Amino acid sequence: MKGLILSGGKGTRLRPLTFTQAKQLVPVANKPVLFYGIEALREAGISEIGIVVGDTKNEIMRAVGDGSRWGVQVSYIEQKTPLGLAHAVKISEGFLKKENFVMYLGDNILKDSLKSLVNRFIQSRPNSLILLTEVPNPQMFGVAELEKGRVINLVEKPKDPPSNLALVGVYMFDSNIFEAVKSIKPSWRDELEITDAIQYLIDNGFRVESHKVKDWWKDTGKIDDILDANRLILESIPSRILGDVDEKSNLKGRIVLEKGAVVRESVIRGPAIIGEKTLIQDSYIGPFTSIQNGCKIKGTEVENSIILEKSEIIDIQSRIDKSLIGREVRIHKCPTKPSVNRFTVGDQSVIEIR
Ligand code: DAU
Repeated sequence: MKGLILSGGKGTRLRPLTFTQAKQLVPVANKPVLFYGIEALREAGISEIGIVVGDTKNEIMRAVGDGSRWGVQVSYIEQKTPLGLAHAVKISEGFLKKENFVMYLGDNILKDSLKSLVNRFIQSRPNSLILLTEVPNPQMFGVAELEKGRVINLVEKPKDPPSNLALVGVYMFDSNIFEAVKSIKPSWRDELEITDAIQYLIDNGFRVESHKVKDWWKDTGKIDDILDANRLILESIPSRILGDVDEKSNLKGRIVLEKGAVVRESVIRGPAIIGEKTLIQDSYIGPFTSIQNGCKIKGTEVENSIILEKSEIIDIQSRIDKSLIGREVRIHKCPTKPSVNRFTVGDQSVIEIR
């Protein structure tokens, strides 16, 4: 069984972060989203993984390398234009050959292990196995309709959803999927949809099975979903204190404090993760906060937030909550009189002031 991770696409819903960064590399609990997919495939016993890449190819290749860090072998498949998930499968035929494979969307995180599902696929040999979960907003996803437990109909982002069962971004296929992706036509959004390819399998007598996921699943395509995924991952992160904490500080709950991190006269309430060489001084870091490497947080209160590398937040009076702050951002008190609000902010940023 091989793995195929889709890491092309545009990431427009994650702007402004994705102006300078691939959406699959945005960190959740200080680890790029894409790495969760690689780890899930490896844990399921898959060691040959193809990654479909687009405009952000170089950045993804730099972050992942040849896969040896995880003990897997990674190949890259270039998709010149993001023409859809089924198109990504079509161009990967040379890599996948005739083998069965797990397709994992590079911006998804699934808590359940894939091991038993991969075994079920190998043993019961359906042509496809799809994963489903109930969601409150099925209009945002591919949606499945079941009849007596069998999948009968799939629709992509329906205005009028036939059920609340969304397609999770993890799929298993045998090589019959190539016939399907070559037979379907582009959708209203001009993409070759994987939902249409699976519908083709159903309509042409192939066996498509489904499985309802037990634990949580997140598509991190939007900012609120990234913050949610961050909370869910931090909820089960094991403590590790490698940094330096002074006697005037107080750490409570599950906390990861990486090598070279320094905490002075501060309170940290876990779950939280603080990256290497980050300084927390005279501050409060509340639950569900991930702060990456090389940041400086001074005289500030933060919670439920993600702060990317080398950012500085200094002497901000009101608590920062539910925020996603990019790389090398500086937020500090106006140093001179008159004391005003002054912004140098990139395109499509959002600032909400108390
Ligand atoms: O997250 C689950 C949903 O993912 C499913 O419920 C939908 O049925 C499925 O179509 C997909 O919908 P999205 O609109 O969220 O897909 P998105 O465009 O975000 O792409 C998912 C991943 O695949 C992302 O990492 C980018 C990558 N991608 C996307 C396209 C369109 C490619 O590598 N190539 C592409 O051409």
